[in-house]
Amino acid sequence: MSTDQRPPRANAGMFRTKSVEQSIRDTEEPEHGLRKSLSAWDLTVFGVGVIIGTGIFVLTGKVAKENAGPATALAFVAAGIVCALAALCYAEFASTVPVAGSAYTFAYASIGELPAWIIGWDLVLEFALGTAVVAVGWSGYVRSLMDNIGWHLPASLEGPDAPGGTFDILAFLLVLVLTAILVVGMKLSARITAVVVAIKVTVVMIVIVAGLFFIVGDNYKPFIPPAVTPEGGGSNWDSPLVQLLFGYEPTNFGVMGIFTAASIVFFAFIGFDVVATAAEETKLPQRDMPRGILGSLLICTVLYVAVALVVTGMQHYTELSVSAPLADAFKAAGHPFYAGVISFGAAVGLTTVCLILLLGQTRVFFAMSRDGLLPRFFSVTHPRFKTPYRPTILLGVVIAVVAGFTSINELATLVNIGTLFAFVMVAVGVIILRRTRPDLHRAFRTPWVPVLPIVSIAASLWLMLNLPGETWFRFAVWMALGIVVYFAYGRGHSRLGREGERPRA
Ligand code: ALA
Repeated sequence: MSTDQRPPRANAGMFRTKSVEQSIRDTEEPEHGLRKSLSAWDLTVFGVGVIIGTGIFVLTGKVAKENAGPATALAFVAAGIVCALAALCYAEFASTVPVAGSAYTFAYASIGELPAWIIGWDLVLEFALGTAVVAVGWSGYVRSLMDNIGWHLPASLEGPDAPGGTFDILAFLLVLVLTAILVVGMKLSARITAVVVAIKVTVVMIVIVAGLFFIVGDNYKPFIPPAVTPEGGGSNWDSPLVQLLFGYEPTNFGVMGIFTAASIVFFAFIGFDVVATAAEETKLPQRDMPRGILGSLLICTVLYVAVALVVTGMQHYTELSVSAPLADAFKAAGHPFYAGVISFGAAVGLTTVCLILLLGQTRVFFAMSRDGLLPRFFSVTHPRFKTPYRPTILLGVVIAVVAGFTSINELATLVNIGTLFAFVMVAVGVIILRRTRPDLHRAFRTPWVPVLPIVSIAASLWLMLNLPGETWFRFAVWMALGIVVYFAYGRGHSRLGREGERPRA
């Protein structure tokens, strides 16, 4: 490893950066260290475990029906390309700065403390709300399975999305159980993850292979349905920002519909970035991180495009179900047995998605508290399990309550905008760190810097612009709140800021 010979920049205010060496050194303090136990294979399983989830199992039907028809497969390709570009940037960062905290840590080492805080705050949004969204989706599949065997929950415990429901008891309990698993230890949860991922991938393969036999060619006509104006003209805040800004008449379907669909099914790809949050727990991060991130992303993209093509071929897009489209397409084809198996696999699979999003969330929180931007109380690891048990428990309980009481629809787009924003910041960080620290060892180098990161930034911004105006508004409110918290707490308590005031021991 190279040594940092430049003068310390510790006290340069809110754009002070934490050196990469210092980030790595911090992880070596025994009280604040995480156990290094993951391999490239663990990371890939981890990635696939969180990537395949509500996006493919639920959102495919919704976007095919409302935004893109059979061209939903193209929306997956578009979203996959955006993610691949971002993944190439993430991989360089993760292999250069292998400490917990993902984009947050990367930004701290490259752009500065305030941008890092903004990203950390933004990742809280992505992971916490993402966990809640998936927990509620899981609960829906479990209720559907329970209905099959004649068990019913009291209506009031079916969640706010169900008629007469107020509290989603299943989503609430799921998050609490997963929190307990994370407190006990990483290795245990990685093992459970591996089994569940195998079930989930098997079910997706069943959809693709069995579904091939039920494809009706006419369902693909027209492959890109002509653009239509939504009811009420669509000129309100739930239309894509790009259409509002540039004065298009808002439309669904058509070529623009593919991009609207891409900005929504983007949710299906969230997760490969979470792999980067486990860098500090990886045995050989310089080699294994890029393999884990790119490998899991590639596998998922291929599966998604295949599933989208099969499902829109099995049922005309106008008839697809929006709650359980993969299972219902088999019911419509007269095969309820397959439908039951798929529902079961979806319910099992969504469990790992929740688990890993929750894990990513606690690791970001942990990293921020280790840096003093959040109270240091949260960065002490458990003496026996070596897990950051304090933030895990705090966040687990908060997310469980949010999942219990909140409707999921609008949360998913908010998760997407937050994640895309983090992608933009990471790509900016790659360019900056190449200039400020060309000496650093990079096990994986993003090709064609700065062109590729710039294309990645443009692609992420384009998807963001295709999200609804009201999502932008909510995102702006959340970020403004984060800036207030930074100036009220983080700026004054920052470890880097304090160390800048006295010589480092
Ligand atoms: N990609 C994950 C999902 O689809 C978050 O549920």
